[in-house]
Amino acid sequence: MLVGEAPGREEDLKGEPFVGTAGRFLDTLLASVGLTRGEVYITNVVKSRPFVGPAPGRNRPPLTNEIQACRAWLDEQLRIIRPQIVVAMGRIALEYFLPGRKISEVHGTPQRQDGRTILPLFHPAAALHRQALRDVLKQDFLVLGRLLRRQERPQAGRK
Ligand code: URA
Repeated sequence: MLVGEAPGREEDLKGEPFVGTAGRFLDTLLASVGLTRGEVYITNVVKSRPFVGPAPGRNRPPLTNEIQACRAWLDEQLRIIRPQIVVAMGRIALEYFLPGRKISEVHGTPQRQDGRTILPLFHPAAALHRQALRDVLKQDFLVLGRLLRRQERPQAGRK
């Protein structure tokens, strides 16, 4: 499962997560580890688009009360899907899974939590704006490939 922040304008119009510029970049990242969208579940912490100004307005980061209001939905998605690996993209997703941790410190380092692995990554949209982050994100994404390969390998001692 991959978890982002909130829908932007294009996501809002289509009713699907990560279908805009950041989504196209996410597709190339997925492809770099041999994955397609059909093989992963993509969602956001916040379920409707936060924006400022008269509609359509500009995207803005979600507020604490908006994140709180959407918590139950993501809780339920996790309960139903039971992902073994969750990619937390950006600081809002990181705060949901690993409160108090800093993305600049934990990005690319898998963390075990409640029987699953959380892989914190920089947000693709942030990386699109900063070349240095883009390179870091591409490298960090390869960690997901390694985690998946490890899962596919039969456990030692099991038949
Ligand atoms: N950014 C996000 O965090 N989520 C989306 O769905 C699109 C852009």
